[in-house]
Amino acid sequence: MLAEALLFAATRLTSPRSRTSAVRDAVGLWARAGRCRAAWAEHEARTRAAIDRVIDGVAVRRTAVVLGSGLLRDVPIDRLSSMFNKVVLVDIVHLPTVRLKTFLRRYPNVSFMTRDISGYDRLVEQSRIKLATGQDDLGVRLDPLGFLRKIDELDLVISANVLSQIAVGAVSRLHSKDGQARVMPDNAVAQLVAGHLDGLAQLPCKTVIVTDVSYVRRRRDGVVVENRDLLHGIIPPPPFDAWDWPVAPFGEEEVDEERIHKVIAAEDVAVDL
Ligand SMILES: C[S@@+](CC[C@H](N)C(=O)[O-])C[C@H]1O[C@@H](n2cnc3c(N)ncnc32)[C@H](O)[C@@H]1O
Repeated sequence: MLAEALLFAATRLTSPRSRTSAVRDAVGLWARAGRCRAAWAEHEARTRAAIDRVIDGVAVRRTAVVLGSGLLRDVPIDRLSSMFNKVVLVDIVHLPTVRLKTFLRRYPNVSFMTRDISGYDRLVEQSRIKLATGQDDLGVRLDPLGFLRKIDELDLVISANVLSQIAVGAVSRLHSKDGQARVMPDNAVAQLVAGHLDGLAQLPCKTVIVTDVSYVRRRRDGVVVENRDLLHGIIPPPPFDAWDWPVAPFGEEEVDEERIHKVIAAEDVAVDL
């Protein structure tokens, strides 16, 4: 608890503009990843292997971007740094421990970009205009990944276990006081999930997405007590690999229940939305 409090304070100091809830979530992820190290090891290794496979298919390796770089646990950062001229790590909040790790490991070509990639604020804006004008279709895309067009010589974009978290973050913002829920459409979260996939599909470079798509909560006797779609009805691209990730093994959330997520890896994201 003390380590978490210190990390929270240090992150607030180094990222003063990040939302408190995002900092809290990042510290929570750090703490849980430590507790669940063994249970998460296979998921992290398979994510890195999926990304490695895609890196091998990139002929020209100038700039790579990692969306949701987080703790760099499931990202093959050594390989990315040694094989690409530049690597840009994008996340809503970067923990100082991660910044320190990249500093100590001396990755001269790795940089950090702090950014909310959900498109939430843009959707609020678009929804307000629709309400004010009575127009149903503004004829513009949400374009949450449009900022990537400003990055030179982009050859690879990796979406690293961030998509379901965009949805989780959006649900919690919709329930918060300043979430503007009253102007947002009923399918706001589905629009944001679709916007991320559409954003990847629009990119003129190689793309790979690893994301959990659903989960089951199961009792020790094997009975499933909950089953949830994490993509809010949006169909993910066809995967080249899929596996289970015990996000909450027995005892993490409930003594007698585990939460197992289904994860997929897909490349060259091109979806018909
Ligand atoms: C499950 S973690 C990904 C793990 C990470 N790839 C790793 O190797 O440790 C999800 C990450 O997505 C980030 N995230 C969640 N919502 C985001 C958003 N709206 N914009 C940018 N990053 C976001 C979180 O801060 C977190 O680092």
